[in-house]
Amino acid sequence: MDLSAFYKVTYGLYIVSSIHQEKAAGCVVNTLVQVTAEPAKMAVAISKKNTTCAVLEQSGVFAAVALTQDTKQELLKVFGFQSSAKIDKFSGISVGIDKNGIPYPMENIAARFSCRVVDRLDLGTHFLFVGEAEEAEIICEDPLLTYEHYRLIRKGGTPKNAPSYQKPLPKRKMGYRCTACGYLLETDTLPSDFVCPVCGVGADKFEQLK
Ligand SMILES: Cc1cc2nc3c(=O)[nH]c(=O)nc-3n(C[C@H](O)[C@H](O)[C@H](O)COP(=O)(O)O)c2cc1C
Repeated sequence: MDLSAFYKVTYGLYIVSSIHQEKAAGCVVNTLVQVTAEPAKMAVAISKKNTTCAVLEQSGVFAAVALTQDTKQELLKVFGFQSSAKIDKFSGISVGIDKNGIPYPMENIAARFSCRVVDRLDLGTHFLFVGEAEEAEIICEDPLLTYEHYRLIRKGGTPKNAPSYQKPLPKRKMGYRCTACGYLLETDTLPSDFVCPVCGVGADKFEQLK
C-alpha cells in the first residue's frame, strides 16, 4: 500500500475546542468535515489521547474554527503539539465565547461553528464525533489554511495523535529531523540552542540522519 496516496486527500486545518466544569481544551485537527445539510452536521475524529477528547466527551458540545493561511505558527504549535492538560491554551490569545460557553481563538479564523454532539463512533485510536451545528458565522474572506499548504509550503508535520500522521521514511540526506513533528533541517551541525520552527521543541529532540 502506498501511504503517500493519503496525501492526495484534501483537508482544511481547524481548531476544535470544548469546555467542561471550567476546564477548557482545544486542538488542531484536519479531520473536520460537514457531513449533512439539513440539519447541518459536522464530524471530527479526535484521538482518545488528546485532552480535548475527554473534555468534549463530558461536555457534549464543541466549537470549531476554520484557520486562515496566514495563521501564526505559534497558534499551530500550541494547539497542535501541546497538551491542554499541561497549559491553558487560551491565555495570551484573543478568545471568543460561543452560545454554549465554549472558548475559541478569535485571530486567524475565517469561520466558526458551535456544535452539539449527536453521535459518537469508536474508531479504536480515535472517536468520531458527529455534531449538529447550532451556530455558524463567517469571520473573514481570507484564504484558508489547507493541510497541503501546511505540509508542502510551511513544511509542517503532524504529531502521532493526528490521523494524518505518517512514520517518516528513511532518508539518505544529511541533516537532523525533529522527532516530535518530522521537521527536516539540512545541516551538518545542529546548534544546541536550536528550536524547531514548527513545533517548538529543543535541539535534544532532534535526531541525526545517517
Ligand atoms: C496539522 C495537524 C493536524 C492534526 N489533526 C488532528 C486530528 O484530526 N485529530 C486529532 O485527534 N489530532 C490531530 N492533531 C494533533 C493534536 O492537535 C495534538 O495532539 C494536540 O496537541 C492535542 O491537544 P490536547 O491534548 O490539548 O487536546 C493534529 C495536529 C496537527 C499539527
